[in-house]
Amino acid sequence: MKTFFMIKPDGVKRNLIGEIISRVEAKGFVISKLKMMKIDKSLAEEHYKEHSDKPFFNDLVSFITSGPVVAMQVEGENVVSQMRNLMGATNPADSTPGSIRGDLATELDKNVVHGSDSDASAERELALFFNK
Ligand code: RTP
Ligand code: MG
Repeated sequence: MKTFFMIKPDGVKRNLIGEIISRVEAKGFVISKLKMMKIDKSLAEEHYKEHSDKPFFNDLVSFITSGPVVAMQVEGENVVSQMRNLMGATNPADSTPGSIRGDLATELDKNVVHGSDSDASAERELALFFNK
């Protein structure tokens, strides 16, 4: 099983790449693809298209294109849901200590990581970032 996982621009700027990757590896998952890249506006809009009618969409696109990200393909047992557990709740105010967001973030719009939310999203997002 595979998922798409990404360290967002805030995580890269705060020098948390090693810290975050360590947690994924220590959990027992395998990082089978990895690249640092800058997301352009069209990729950002495609990646987050499920949110295109939300009031926060423009801010989300500006933020995710504001600096380099680290994009990964991560493999393992039930990796989509287990990675979401490892990441913690979307809003760091609600994420449990011990999770990536619970330990490393305080704000909803700067929540350091992204992970696919279903097998279908994982397939779509991996194709978007690694097969183009
Ligand atoms: P992500 O896609 O970034 O991994 O986050 P997620 O699945 O946990 O949450 P999602 O609902 O997909 O939301 C995407 C990102 O949009 C920002 N957001 N802002 N202002 C708001 O109400 C609001 N709601 C969501 C968050 O930064 C979230 O990660
Ligand atoms: Mg999401």
